Amino acid sequence: MSTDKIQQLKKMKEVISQGGGEKKIKKQHESGKMTARERLGLLFDEGSFVEIDAFVKHRCTEFGMQEVDAPGEGVVSGYGTVEGRLVYAYAQDFTVVGGSLGEMHAKKICKVMDMALKMGAPVVGINDSGGARIQEGVDALSGYGNIFYRNTIASGVVPQISVIMGPCAGGAVYSPALTDFVFMVDKTSQMFITGPQVIKAVTGEEVSAEDLGGAMTHNKVSGVAHFISADEKQCIEDIKRLLSFLPSNNMENAPEFACDDDLNRIEDKLNDIIPDNPNKAYDMKEVMAAIVDNGDFMEVQPYYAMNIITAFARLNGRSVGIIANQPKVLAGCLDINASDKAGRFIRTCDAFNIPVLNLVDVPGFLPGTNQEYGGIIRHGAKMLYAYSEATVPKVTLITRKAYGGAYIAMCNKELGADQVYAWPTAEIAVMGPEGAANIIFRKDIEGAENPATARQEKIQEYKDKFATPYIAASRGYVDDVIEPATTRQRLISAFEMLESKRENRPAKKHGNLPV
Ligand code: HXC
Repeated sequence: MSTDKIQQLKKMKEVISQGGGEKKIKKQHESGKMTARERLGLLFDEGSFVEIDAFVKHRCTEFGMQEVDAPGEGVVSGYGTVEGRLVYAYAQDFTVVGGSLGEMHAKKICKVMDMALKMGAPVVGINDSGGARIQEGVDALSGYGNIFYRNTIASGVVPQISVIMGPCAGGAVYSPALTDFVFMVDKTSQMFITGPQVIKAVTGEEVSAEDLGGAMTHNKVSGVAHFISADEKQCIEDIKRLLSFLPSNNMENAPEFACDDDLNRIEDKLNDIIPDNPNKAYDMKEVMAAIVDNGDFMEVQPYYAMNIITAFARLNGRSVGIIANQPKVLAGCLDINASDKAGRFIRTCDAFNIPVLNLVDVPGFLPGTNQEYGGIIRHGAKMLYAYSEATVPKVTLITRKAYGGAYIAMCNKELGADQVYAWPTAEIAVMGPEGAANIIFRKDIEGAENPATARQEKIQEYKDKFATPYIAASRGYVDDVIEPATTRQRLISAFEMLESKRENRPAKKHGNLPV
């Protein structure tokens, strides 16, 4: 081969690797953002990223586009290894026509998605784009449609991770929304269906882009995003950490790590963590840290519906998904947002063969017209559905309150918990003692000489009888009442016993989850 041809190839690749050129790259850096290639360089193990489709070009001839050379078509795509495991990725290149998505840009994305599905490997999509390439009209919309379709087909087969590192506007937001996890970077990423200007024109509301669709808005208020990172480097580290908890596809188990933590660690502090006063809160995260390997867990949606905690952790080096009531927030009640958060997380774990651990301290569903009008019945049903549907090993530990429907919704025996444990402090009943006494002893209380004293006596009577784990244990609804200090070893042993669990369900097209 002539050296000319080699030189030409090298030159072409060099031009493509410069994306939109020096000026645009400078602007990108000045706005606190890395380029698409820099991001991929950090994500993948050094030297492992293999780019494909670098020579792809758009075919648009409208609005002067025939003059526009768009290196890489505004998106860098390919594969490589992350911590030694195969991962596919694409990163939109904002320096090239604003990372806007046209027909060929979409084809590049679809190609890596198709490959990821065939090879059974995760897809990481880095979004930084002005949205549909306006000059391409319906071809751009078709491109999005093709991506949404593939997001849906790949859902539950390979992990799909969306990373927002710039604008993500209009219908473009629906690709991330269809994926398993959405990462956002504080202050430099935004997602919205309609931007501030359109909102002002239509409703008169004035809102900044950050307040409308910034990382904290979607992490705290809307629940669209699952993670917020301080900067892009941190975000990429967070993605790698998340991947370490996930299998490459739904036919595999999550990677196992050597556990250097004591499997029989006794945590005396757990014997004292439940306050004597049932109305006093404690931090369920302390319980989690005391139980899991090295006290280490990765919270999913840490700022959203904080009355429930969802997190990945390891027990004896194996991934578990934890769903835990947080007594510190809304007394750990279940509400609409908590139900949505937990329901989705349970289904994510089940899809990817990650056993679930449920830590229960729940006084009930949150009362109020807000909740009822907002459809708590419909939303709460998602938790019941997700737990019942999940066939992964399910272990439930009741630390304190487990009342009424919420006791069931946190995965009791009947929803398929393979093992239910309770601490001696557990109170398993239809409702809390105060409410119960008011109803069943109403006549006795009203007719008493001193109703206030009578009420207290009846509350105590109810507590003594029902606010314990022993009635539930006597019926077999609780498999064992355990000493809190021994929780770690008991849970490790339970999950080990459940490792070979197989559960078949009737064949059907799909269930009808109350979405
Ligand atoms: C074509 C686009 C573009 C787009 C940006 N550019 N968005 N080109 N189609 N959608 C180009 C700009 O013309 C500019 O080109 C370059 O990208 C950089 O953009 P700037 O505006 O200079 O950057 P910045 O000031 O940082 O503003 C970024 C922005 C803004 C906020 C994203 O560009 C913007 O508002 N773009 C339009 C967003 C939008 O309405 N998109 C359609 C959404 S609807 P030059 O040549 O000057 O460098 C949608 C529907 C999807 O996406 C439907 C799916 C079902």
